Amino acid sequence: MSDSNYPMTPDKLRSRWWFDNPDHPATTALCIERYMNYGMTLEELSSGKPIIGIAQSGSDLTPCNRHHIELVKRVKDGIRAAGGVPFEFPLHPIHENARRPTAALDRNLAYLGLVEVLHGYPLDGVVLTTGCDKTTPACLMAAATVNIPAIVLSGGPMLNGWRGSERVGSGTIIWELRKRLAAGDIDYEEFLSRATDSAPSVGHCNTMGTASTMNSMAEALGMSLPGSAMIPGPYKERSMIAYQTGERSVAMVWEDMRPSEILTREAFENAIVVCSALGGSSNAPIHINAIARHAGVELDNDDWQRLGHEIPLLANVMPAGAYLGEEFHRAGGVPAVIHELLGAGRLHGDVVTVNGRSLATNVQGRETSDPEVIRRYDNPLVEHAGFINLKGNLFDSALMKTSVISREFRRRFLNDADDPNAFEGKVAVFDGSEDYHARIDDPSLAIDESTILVMRGAGPVGHPGGAEVVNMQPPEALIRQGIESLPCLGDGRQSGTSGSPSILNASPEAATGGGLALLETGDRIRIDLGRGEVRVLIDEAELEARRQRLASQGGYAYPDHQTPWQEIQRSMVEPLDRGMTLEPATKYRDVARRSPPR
Ligand code: FES
Ligand code: MG
Repeated sequence: MSDSNYPMTPDKLRSRWWFDNPDHPATTALCIERYMNYGMTLEELSSGKPIIGIAQSGSDLTPCNRHHIELVKRVKDGIRAAGGVPFEFPLHPIHENARRPTAALDRNLAYLGLVEVLHGYPLDGVVLTTGCDKTTPACLMAAATVNIPAIVLSGGPMLNGWRGSERVGSGTIIWELRKRLAAGDIDYEEFLSRATDSAPSVGHCNTMGTASTMNSMAEALGMSLPGSAMIPGPYKERSMIAYQTGERSVAMVWEDMRPSEILTREAFENAIVVCSALGGSSNAPIHINAIARHAGVELDNDDWQRLGHEIPLLANVMPAGAYLGEEFHRAGGVPAVIHELLGAGRLHGDVVTVNGRSLATNVQGRETSDPEVIRRYDNPLVEHAGFINLKGNLFDSALMKTSVISREFRRRFLNDADDPNAFEGKVAVFDGSEDYHARIDDPSLAIDESTILVMRGAGPVGHPGGAEVVNMQPPEALIRQGIESLPCLGDGRQSGTSGSPSILNASPEAATGGGLALLETGDRIRIDLGRGEVRVLIDEAELEARRQRLASQGGYAYPDHQTPWQEIQRSMVEPLDRGMTLEPATKYRDVARRSPPR
């Protein structure tokens, strides 16, 4: 409850402008008469109780988050018990697997919608329900922009998937099975049956894909209660943490604890380090850089390499490892990973988190209870597991997730005694995923075991929102010969559940003048992981001639807009390395303090 020692007092709550405003009696009357029409009492609305919004990301369209419909009942219980009043409202639906052309298109749309709700309605604080990939960054970006007290509640991963005694990880199994299907080992029915084994309960992906990564990032940033990110959706602890999250949201209002206090440069540096130790999704740098931009913190892909590359892989979770969400949670979850990293001096332990305590205090005594699943810092799965940020004459930035470079990949491509970090190959170039599917088996491309597959036209402008298509599989004929993967490079994204060590998120993209637009099938490129370089082995005069030719044709062509939002987003979206944010939106800070709306 409020206390005169707290910075926020009942008379200063922003909801009072709507619900108890003698200077604007008509405003108050119009608000209270309508919120009372479904049974709210005057005492609830205008006696100085914090009004807490609950951004509901669950719906029938969003299965990964759907159990939030039940969970928020416990959030509301917690809010009520702490003396607040809950107001639940919908977030624009984002479901990774069903939304076309891609769910990433809606991250910025959900962000904009949530900013307007948090700014324009009588809310003193907000609980952000998250889960499926883009729901988490959309919510955190909006919280950073609006800057009212905000706390994240993840829905948690699904239970482990099983096929007999084998763990089946969501997403990851699809990338495996499609090779089996292409090789003719299984048929369509078996493909579908095995895929559904990976999704046995409510919750988001049980692998360390983008959903688990981004919810772990929310916790590492200090925006959710310690230990909450990875409690599986159906566990009783999930409902308990929902209650505690609701309770805590009310206290945060009295303490006037805002995202700007939590989302500091140090917090983002912590997120990079934790992400690397988790073997987190290649989408994380996009979303974390975006949240940082909205928080007014400078962060770029050089920071990811500088702070993250040498961090060891501690989480033995698919796709980089062997286990799934349930084991990760039981081994201690994100606090156990933070505990190891703090012990090694890799994190800023004194940053404040949503519970008012420091990151270091939160993880005291929370070491891993299963060092097979969450490794000790000195016994990791992989030594240098973070991203490297590649540059060169084709793009300014592209990321490679080193934790998933397999032994087989090293043997085939990084085996040159003179330079074990570099390899060369000729490229086969595809313009978007339809072109790839139409031509990958075309013998005239002469793809062999040393070809590098290139995907372009898949960035946020070329394919609105950026397509998760860079992890291309080889032609069927090669798969049948046992060549299951080829190096991939592209200006699109790939699923966080993919174990492919692709070079992706190349920025700028082909559609906005990036150098990938100049590549031709048969060109040779050199990939030097030691120097952090990708270069096409063509002289500058020839590249310039190609540039002129492309310009005379009107630049790199991409498909028409299908909807108004696609056109609007394309007109102002920034490249993937800058977070794929809407450029005009990044200048807004502390929007809540501009309330009430004029
Ligand atoms: Fe929704 Fe993976 S598809 S979390
Ligand atoms: Mg995805």
